[in-house]
Amino acid sequence: MPLVDLRSDLLAGPTPEMIEAMIATARAPSSYGAREDRHVPELEALTAQTLGTEDALFFPTCTMANQAALMVHCRPGDIIIADAESHVAEFEAASTAGISNVAVLRVTGTHGHLSPAQLAQLLDQNEGEAMRISMVSLENTHNRAGGTVMPEGWQQQIEKECRARGIAIHLDGARLWNAAAYAKCEPLALAKGADSVAVSLNKALGAPLGAMLCGSKAFIRDASRVRRMLGGNWRPAGIVAAPALIALKTMRQRIVDDHANARHLGTMLASEHSWLSIDLDSLQTNIVLLKLRTKQMNASSLTKRLAEMGVLVVSYGDRYVRLAVYSGIGQDQIDEVLTAFSQISRSLTADYFAGSRDDRKANHRRIS
Ligand SMILES: Cc1ncc(COP(=O)(O)O)c(C=O)c1O
Repeated sequence: MPLVDLRSDLLAGPTPEMIEAMIATARAPSSYGAREDRHVPELEALTAQTLGTEDALFFPTCTMANQAALMVHCRPGDIIIADAESHVAEFEAASTAGISNVAVLRVTGTHGHLSPAQLAQLLDQNEGEAMRISMVSLENTHNRAGGTVMPEGWQQQIEKECRARGIAIHLDGARLWNAAAYAKCEPLALAKGADSVAVSLNKALGAPLGAMLCGSKAFIRDASRVRRMLGGNWRPAGIVAAPALIALKTMRQRIVDDHANARHLGTMLASEHSWLSIDLDSLQTNIVLLKLRTKQMNASSLTKRLAEMGVLVVSYGDRYVRLAVYSGIGQDQIDEVLTAFSQISRSLTADYFAGSRDDRKANHRRIS
């Protein structure tokens, strides 16, 4: 049994109130249709209202919601533009190619976010070309970049560029709740301008599982057909919709605590261990992304050593490790993590730097 599991914020898990709701729904008579159990349409209506869209549709996963959006916005052989490390381009690469049949023009954004100028240039270059660019995919917050929030105003400018060319915008907002908490705004302010928005209900909010796809009534009608095609017409879904409804109503307000805890964890790690670095400017939400600066360990060996001490994290490539903070992670768990890192620190020999003396100075400047 791990002491602290920081592999993902989807581990937040349901509250006692959500578990009660699941039990009560399981005891009620089963429903037949996908929207027959009252919790499903209630959840869809509340999500649509929260994101300022006409309609919303309940999905088992955010991956399926993203892919359904791609299939509605694009035709086979179309091109979509996305940040190279976005979930749609990277983790969903096989689905994007094999299910949605679209190719991704992968662009390296700034901390995961495509700038309006970068996008405009790209679209200008491809004007009149044989390839059909039908969609731009945005991700807020950006997972691989360390939970970074899209700079204010970018989405509105991107919307202008896309509208002028008839290109759709899909927003992968698996962690839009975190972005809204950081920006101190309602999620609908961040959804504005997108033609479709996917949000997770388990990450940060603690619903047992599920995601929503939001958009216009016409878009959701098409997405509903695609969901059925993908085998996602799940029913009876009340047992998962009931706790998700509670999650959406009650859990958003506490996300700022996760951000404060992540900040504390990241700041402590960066200040105590020169063999790793953390970009504290990018540590905006609940994800701590650390980069190894020692040659004595790579990301997978650090992950393994932490696991031996009961701390679970995930590695990204050879140098990066992600620690995700959520509702079950408080001061006690953070102390356990800090102790594990200190133990690893003591086992390293003095000559642990892969970086230069200037890098070390910069690291200390950033945290001071
Ligand atoms: C940004 C982003 N989008 C989509 C997903 C996919 O979510 P799911 O696991 O529900 O398919 C994830 C999962 O971590 C994610 O980080």
